[in-house]
Amino acid sequence: MKTELTLHERTLSLHRFPKRSNETLQAWDAGDEYLINHVEELALPPQQHVLILNDHCGALSCWFSKQHKVTMMSDSFISHQATKANLLANHADEVRLLSTYDAIPDNVDLVLVQLPKSNRHLVWQLHQLRQSLPESVAVIAVNKAKEIHTSTLKLFEKHLGQTKTSLAWKKHRLVFSQANATSVPQVSPYTRWQVDQHDFWLNNLPNVYSGESLDLGARFMLEHLPKDLGDKKVIDLGCGNGVLSVKLGQLNPNIQLTCVDESFMSIESASKNLTEALGNNREFRCVANNCLDGFSAAQADLVVCNPPFHQQQAITDHIAWQMFCDAKHVLNNGGQLLVIGNRHLGYDGKLTRLFGKTNVKTVAANKKFVILQATK
Ligand SMILES: C[S@@+](CC[C@H](N)C(=O)[O-])C[C@H]1O[C@@H](n2cnc3c(N)ncnc32)[C@H](O)[C@@H]1O
Repeated sequence: MKTELTLHERTLSLHRFPKRSNETLQAWDAGDEYLINHVEELALPPQQHVLILNDHCGALSCWFSKQHKVTMMSDSFISHQATKANLLANHADEVRLLSTYDAIPDNVDLVLVQLPKSNRHLVWQLHQLRQSLPESVAVIAVNKAKEIHTSTLKLFEKHLGQTKTSLAWKKHRLVFSQANATSVPQVSPYTRWQVDQHDFWLNNLPNVYSGESLDLGARFMLEHLPKDLGDKKVIDLGCGNGVLSVKLGQLNPNIQLTCVDESFMSIESASKNLTEALGNNREFRCVANNCLDGFSAAQADLVVCNPPFHQQQAITDHIAWQMFCDAKHVLNNGGQLLVIGNRHLGYDGKLTRLFGKTNVKTVAANKKFVILQATK
């Protein structure tokens, strides 16, 4: 797997985060290369303020920080960590890191965008750019050509301004736009809906997983959460909007809750939802993190987890495995990990390998999902 990106007689050494010896995924894509090649041809004067949105692992930040002042905005804690590590490894200049919920910085000269996965997140970013950028600032976005639909370009036209596209290169396409749309539709940061059959509402920032409606797996899990936990210490690993924590908190008024997610918007949404459902006097922690990195051993009695099956842009099951290993590490002896997953994902095999066959049992199953409990 390549870790060196060479363009224009310059080489960057780039790794994903966390760095893994058996990594199969590259830390940049042809979209990064297309953007770099295009901007190099523009021959910008030095020390421009380049705003980069959604840099995956920091390839763009490393490249452009050599000659320019760079601000990078991303909702992903993992992208922030990858960017920091790659900047350090390439002796690159400092880059200002912000989340995509922060305000667009002032005095930007050029905006480069790796298109985000969800349209809601894209609309939020375009809306933010339209509110803050002068018309003269070019916005150049990139994605796989097959991901840039007519509807994607319509979102650009509606929320940002005039838009055109480039020819495809290595299956990627550039989108050129500028902030000159005449009418600017209101875009609210939160969607809010009630969890039917359960007594609470959820607020969801634009990049929250299943932010438009309840995830089917989560719905099934809600019916099987324990209600006899006393003052136990509970971790919601990959909490998203905090749906599982809110229910656990309602069922168990004395538990000590910690929510963990790699999405800053998820952490913000979970915190808002817990306060709204449980009141201002309940204490809980919401932490942006990669799985349970840095958590000490034997500190929790229950970990609940609805694992992701993709990380940033890549489909992978190594996160689920990392989550299960980390959960085992942080659990006290006798502590339990409660996991929901699609039947076909085979989490029972992974949990058996880690916890031993006799310590893994099925709590509930339906046609699509299975809930498993592993005891340390
Ligand atoms: C399937 S969603 C579950 C969300 C919520 N718990 C639910 O049941 O609807 C998985 C969550 O894991 C988060 N996630 C992905 N990779 C992660 C990582 N390395 N560390 C922590 N959280 C991660 C995602 O942002 C997402 O919110």
